[in-house]
This record gives sequence, C-alpha cells and structure tokens, in this order.
Amino acid sequence: MVTKTEPESSDFDRDTALKAFDDTKAGVKGLVDAGIAKIPPIFLHSRPNAASVQSTPGHTESELPVIPTVDLQGVDGDPNLRRRVIWQVNDACRRWGFFQVINHGIPTTLLNKMMEGVKGFHELETEVKKGFYTRDYSKTLTYNCNFDFYQSPAVNWRDTVSCVMAPRPPNPKELPQVCGETMVDYSTQVMLLARRLFVLLSEALGLNPSYLNDIGCSEGLMFFGHYYPACPEPDLTMGISSHSDSSFLTVLLQDQIGGLQVQCDNHWVDVEPNTSALVINVGDLLQLISNDEFKSSQHRVLTKFIGPRVSVACFLRQQLPPENSRVYGPVKELVSEENPPVFRKTAVKEFVKYYYAKGLNGISALEHFRL
Ligand code: OGA
Ligand code: NI
Repeated sequence: MVTKTEPESSDFDRDTALKAFDDTKAGVKGLVDAGIAKIPPIFLHSRPNAASVQSTPGHTESELPVIPTVDLQGVDGDPNLRRRVIWQVNDACRRWGFFQVINHGIPTTLLNKMMEGVKGFHELETEVKKGFYTRDYSKTLTYNCNFDFYQSPAVNWRDTVSCVMAPRPPNPKELPQVCGETMVDYSTQVMLLARRLFVLLSEALGLNPSYLNDIGCSEGLMFFGHYYPACPEPDLTMGISSHSDSSFLTVLLQDQIGGLQVQCDNHWVDVEPNTSALVINVGDLLQLISNDEFKSSQHRVLTKFIGPRVSVACFLRQQLPPENSRVYGPVKELVSEENPPVFRKTAVKEFVKYYYAKGLNGISALEHFRL
C-alpha cells in the first residue's frame, strides 16, 4: 500500500489554497475588505523581516547610511554642475544601485494624479475590477496578485496592475478609465526622464553620452501600479520579497507610507519616502552590460499595519516582440584582456523568461548568466 508522504499532502493543500485564492480574482484587497484578522497560510514567509539597519548593533543614529539624493536642477546648462551630478550618479550606481532624484522635471500634479489613478483602480468595485484579473500577459492590461504567484515560495501581500507602455503605447480606450489617460501621460514623461538619465549613466561609465540610449536601454517601458493593503499581521509576510529588477533601470514613485528597503553591505536600509522625488535603481540588465560596474541591488517592501501603500514602478526594458529579441552582453568598451566579460550574452526575452520562471526567491537571476 502506498501511503502519502507529508510533503506531498501539504503541497497539495498549498496548491489548492493558491488556486482557490486566485479564483476569487479579488486580490489581497479582497481579503482585507472581508475583514480578515489573520493572514492565510499562503502569505506566510519564513523569515520576513530579517534585521534592518536600524536594529544592527554598532550603528548609531548619525551613522545610518542614507540613499543619495541627486538634484537635476540646471544639469543640462552648467558644465561644472553636470560633472558633479555625473560623479554622484556614478558613485550611487556603484555603491548602492539606488538613488533618488529631485527636480526631475515631472510635474508634482502629474505624480499625484498617477498615484490617485493607481489607487482608484485598485479601489474599483470588485465586480468591475475582476474583469481585468488575468495571468495572460498577452492582454493589454494585467491585474493580479503577484506575477510569480505559483512559482514563489510564499505569496506577497500585494496586488498589481501592469501594462507595456512603450515602444507602442496602448490606446487609453483599452485601459481602465480611472487611470488610463494618466498612465499614458506619466509614461511619456518617465521615458523623457529615463533618456536624460541614460545620458548621465553613459557618461558615468565613460561611454559616449548617447551610448545607452543608442543600444536600446530606453526603448521599452513596463508600468506596474502596486497596491499594498494594510496588513493585520505585518511581521509574518512581505509586500515584495527581496529581489533585484529585471530592467536596465527602474523609475519608482512611492507614497509617504514607507516600507521600501535596499540591501547595502549586508544591511537593510530604508528608502525614505519623499513625495516630490523619484527613486531610481539599476536593474539586472544594466549590471550585465556594465560588466558588474553598476550594481542591481536586492530590495524589498515590508508590510505594515497601516495602508494602503501605493507605488508605481516603471521598468525600462523591452518586453514584447520584436524588440525583446535584442541581445545584450557586457559592452565591448568596458571589457579588455585585464577586465574580461563576466556575463554571457543573452536576448532580453531569454533573460526575462528565466527571471519569471524563477520567481522572487532572493537569488539574483543574473547569477545564471555569469561566466
Ligand atoms: C518593483 C519594486 C518597490 C515598491 O516593482 O520591482 O521593487 O516600492 N517595487 O513598490
Ligand atoms: Ni523592484
């Protein structure tokens, strides 16, 4: 007689629970609306809040490292200022892979409108919102709970609406009325900012100013509108597990709730909310083409009793054919006999396929491409 082993039966229960939750099409927000006091087991993480820098012995308040803030005011006019900004960006990308930008040129009214739009989408009547719930990424707009829901070891306390906005922006009529037009306007502005940033990043790497734009780093944009509901047991789960981004560069807009942390020198450091700033971070594909010079850092979002927290992450990278067939490797200007390539070449679609299949498990997808 064959007896069922423990892991098999518990795996079966987990699969059933995952499917049952996914079938509600109401996301994490649906659980909170139903007034749950305990989080369902599929959301339990094994070590969710492993010490942040604040609780690390040996650091005093004044020594806490802070993510650099770069002021872009006047950067295109004054050559001295420009050199200083390139130095700051360079230092931030090597040390942290993260910085914040102020005076970035995107009007505060548009930032606020974008946040309101994403919040408005997630707070639509459940019956209306369910119509957008899907894991079929060939759809123009995708709304679901965790892109890696069935792959990751534990589900994150987060719902997301996403859409490919460039190089072929969808017609706003294909998008939800509550946020569609703003998504198009905001993405257009993010593209302009990203192109300016890639000029600074090219120069920071010692390349021709147009280098990174010319090879297509700013060709594609994916939009993710995240919603992190208030959580009754925040210490048992995560908003986003530790991960690095699959982009070349990410432009992130966050509200004032907080919870985003970046890993630096084995410490978790808060990315302090600044509603007039945008958070910029290096993604895996930029680390790959820079041959490890720039760092795609692990980051995560902690859950809180308070909420919802809303954020908008724009990933600069190609997603759809034909652009996603482009092949990238360490750029030839950055490699030499003394400094050989440390990554193999990959098509964006191959990289992304591997990244998605792995899910957010705290291990960088880049390691799979390391020589
Ligand atoms: C992401 C991400 C952080 C946030 O979308 O990859 O890290 O604050 N988001 O939502
Ligand atoms: Ni991220």
